[in-house]
Amino acid sequence: MYGLLVGFAKWLEGTPWGIGVRTSLWAYPFTQLVHFTGLSIWLGTNLALDLRLVGLGKKRETAAQLRDDLFAWNWIGFCIVLLGGLLLFSASATTFLVNVAFRWKLGVFVPLALLWHIFVQWKARDWGVTENTPAIAKFAGLAEILLWICVIWWAVQIPNH
Ligand code: HEM
Repeated sequence: MYGLLVGFAKWLEGTPWGIGVRTSLWAYPFTQLVHFTGLSIWLGTNLALDLRLVGLGKKRETAAQLRDDLFAWNWIGFCIVLLGGLLLFSASATTFLVNVAFRWKLGVFVPLALLWHIFVQWKARDWGVTENTPAIAKFAGLAEILLWICVIWWAVQIPNH
């Protein structure tokens, strides 16, 4: 399984986009900008729903309405994150693969947070029908915020490992 991943990483590094992002002077910072733009949309819309579930902030809409309003932007943001992340990874895939922080980020916390997010987004329709959310919704919102903080914490460690 690991051999397969290494093979995939080597192939990615040799692709035209992998070579392009690695060798061009501006492509890497530009791709980071893409990753961060996606992150602003993705994490921003996640946080808005999570805080509404927790019960903080204005209550102009129910959590269920907010979930529906933000749904499309939320997943557009994720697609941009994924595109930028994959391109950054392609630039030095074999190096990232052995990076401890990258492994924690992508191997553990991103899948965990993503699954939790899908669950929360799905349940928000039931939890969020009244102005005040139940205790379970508050817990779920808070847990999601903490999970994304863990992802970011590992992500910023990547350059030092
Ligand atoms: C979905 C949640 C994600 C979050 C919250 C996230 C967060 C971040 C952050 C904050 C950084 C900047 C680290 C720094 O330079 O200090 C970063 C960089 C990076 N991310 Fe992500 N990311 C996510 C998803 C992904 C995915 C899905 C991939 C790959 C497929 C990816 C690959 C990368 C790579 C390769 C870097 C560059 C590290 C470097 O140049 O030092 N990320 N990410």
